[in-house]
Amino acid sequence: MELQNNETNRGGTMNILQLMAHPEYNNQKRAANRLADVGLKTLQEKLNGRGTIEVLNVYDPNNFIPQITADTLNFTNPKEMTTERLKKHEAQYKLIRQWKSADYIYIYMPLHNWNVPAKFKDYLDNILTAGETFKYTESGSVGLMSDETSKVTFILTSGSEYETNYRYVNLDIAPQYMRGVLHMMGINQMKLIRAQGLDMSTNDKEEIMKSAEKELVDYINSQSF
Ligand SMILES: Cc1cc2nc3c(=O)[nH]c(=O)nc-3n(C[C@H](O)[C@H](O)[C@H](O)COP(=O)(O)O)c2cc1C
Repeated sequence: MELQNNETNRGGTMNILQLMAHPEYNNQKRAANRLADVGLKTLQEKLNGRGTIEVLNVYDPNNFIPQITADTLNFTNPKEMTTERLKKHEAQYKLIRQWKSADYIYIYMPLHNWNVPAKFKDYLDNILTAGETFKYTESGSVGLMSDETSKVTFILTSGSEYETNYRYVNLDIAPQYMRGVLHMMGINQMKLIRAQGLDMSTNDKEEIMKSAEKELVDYINSQSF
């Protein structure tokens, strides 16, 4: 479905969510942050004021990302919650609302031990909430979002190469994990952009970054909004 001007699938204004998951969230030289900066500037130029771009860095201590703990498992009715538990509940639903209202989601992160950085896993634990992003039915779970409501781009930086290095091909878990999580929510397409092999001495890091930046800019500019 092609969107016109600032129209969205929900009939409101265009909402873009930029999620960032680098632990060193304020170091612009970090590969994921550098790509996020390029992506944000490209989006701002393309949107030219037609809609909103929200940026959330899950490692910024100003952003509260609740973790699954004993109290989050045991107290699920807001009326029975302690003040501390209620704070987590409200923070969780704020994250869910932000995620669900985004027409386009761009996720930037470094690969950590073949998976998403730990804090981003916490983030997803908040988003993967039954009744919000998926629901249980007698025949299994069903996603409550769709490719029409949410377009996800996953930008991943890594020290090693995952498409050609045989040692690592089977450890290419993060993109599969993200595709699986999104599929649970009913989102079946995910654009993957990688800057890989950044820590290999035989590679030219700057060349890899320039190529990933170009791929990102070209992709954003090719999107129909
Ligand atoms: C704790 C930690 C774990 C990492 N695990 C992996 C890994 O499993 N696979 C990989 O290819 N790179 C891994 N890396 C390398 C980073 O993904 C890579 O250095 C980063 O994407 C490059 O960007 P930056 O150093 O500018 O942040 C790891 C780095 C750190 C700090």
